[in-house]
Amino acid sequence: MSYQFNQIINRQNTHSTKWSKFNPQTLPFWVADMDIAAPDFVMDPIRERLEHPIIGYTDEPESLTEAFSDWLEHHYQWQVPAHWIVWVPGVVPMLNLAARTIAPDGQLLVPTPVYYPFLRLAENAGITDLQIPLTATKNARGLWQMDFDAMEAALTPATQMMVICNPQNPTGRCYSRAELSALARFIEKHNLLLVTDEIHCNILLSPDARHYPIAGLFPEIADRTISLYAATKVYNIPGLTCAAAIIPNAQIRKKFTQAKAGLLPGISPLSYVASEAAFRDRTDWVAQLMQHLRQNLADLSSAVGDRLSPIQATYLAWISIKDLALEDPESYFARAGLGISPGAQFGDPDFIRFNFGCPQSTLHEGLDRLKKALNDAPRAY
Ligand SMILES: Cc1ncc(COP(=O)(O)O)c(C=O)c1O
Repeated sequence: MSYQFNQIINRQNTHSTKWSKFNPQTLPFWVADMDIAAPDFVMDPIRERLEHPIIGYTDEPESLTEAFSDWLEHHYQWQVPAHWIVWVPGVVPMLNLAARTIAPDGQLLVPTPVYYPFLRLAENAGITDLQIPLTATKNARGLWQMDFDAMEAALTPATQMMVICNPQNPTGRCYSRAELSALARFIEKHNLLLVTDEIHCNILLSPDARHYPIAGLFPEIADRTISLYAATKVYNIPGLTCAAAIIPNAQIRKKFTQAKAGLLPGISPLSYVASEAAFRDRTDWVAQLMQHLRQNLADLSSAVGDRLSPIQATYLAWISIKDLALEDPESYFARAGLGISPGAQFGDPDFIRFNFGCPQSTLHEGLDRLKKALNDAPRAY
């Protein structure tokens, strides 16, 4: 079956966060949702559930946990017992809960640039963090990578936890087996807990990219990890928040279950059925979507050339504007008819983030505007 990703779907009047932020003439390429319909095999169970007129509080279906652990086994040969899995209404709440389990004098290690909620975790939890830049300079292919020397030098006795995102938003890195092995040794050596957000795991664009769940690959560190997954990114149902935290260690799991009680809302029954259908997917919908995104990435790459960081995963492009003298890049590009995310939000003002998860014609219109805006911008040097 051939799926269609180029249909223009009008999202005005849906209160879409993406489409409401800028004026109607501006094309939005910022927040990480796609202008692409979720597949019918995810939408149909929602429609079926709506046949019942009562949307009451709903327990976690065992079948969802089963679907998720089958999915982990199918894709990553990772066998995860059901009792390791804690369902939460979103990855971001889980990241914040994780930070809140750190002692008040504790410290969080955060490689940057990174998805902006990571940068607020410490402040929200009333602790401090160490934000250590990834480096794009040591790898021959210009890929961003974790700077273990800098992280090691920055660590203090108070550092208790490290939070990472793999694949990485916004740089598009998908860490290699060797890097994850180095990371596993690093967190063991320094007695850290690792929280790893793997929500973009199945949005792999480069043929040599492969996702490895670090806790599955290195069972020796599983006890000190919390791995976060959700079906909401790749199937484009981020409004139906539902995420899984895999917590092998019983004590840590208990801490989390207690920390979330009364704070987090329950998960919607519509989110449960949609996520379950997504985890049960064995069609080639995702593979076809990847073909579409690869083509979009190729077009983007032709438009912006070597401004683009090499991207292995995600539908988010990290584009250098280091040579431009822009005081407020978000406003500058908005005036050019483009809604982008300024890099400063992620911890690096020399870049902008551009979401290319959209139909081709939307992208092409956006790229025309982007090329012109980049050409017209004042130069810093
Ligand atoms: C790396 C990453 N983690 C988490 C989220 C959001 O997750 P949730 O909506 O489940 O809180 C996003 C959304 O863009 C993301 O890019």
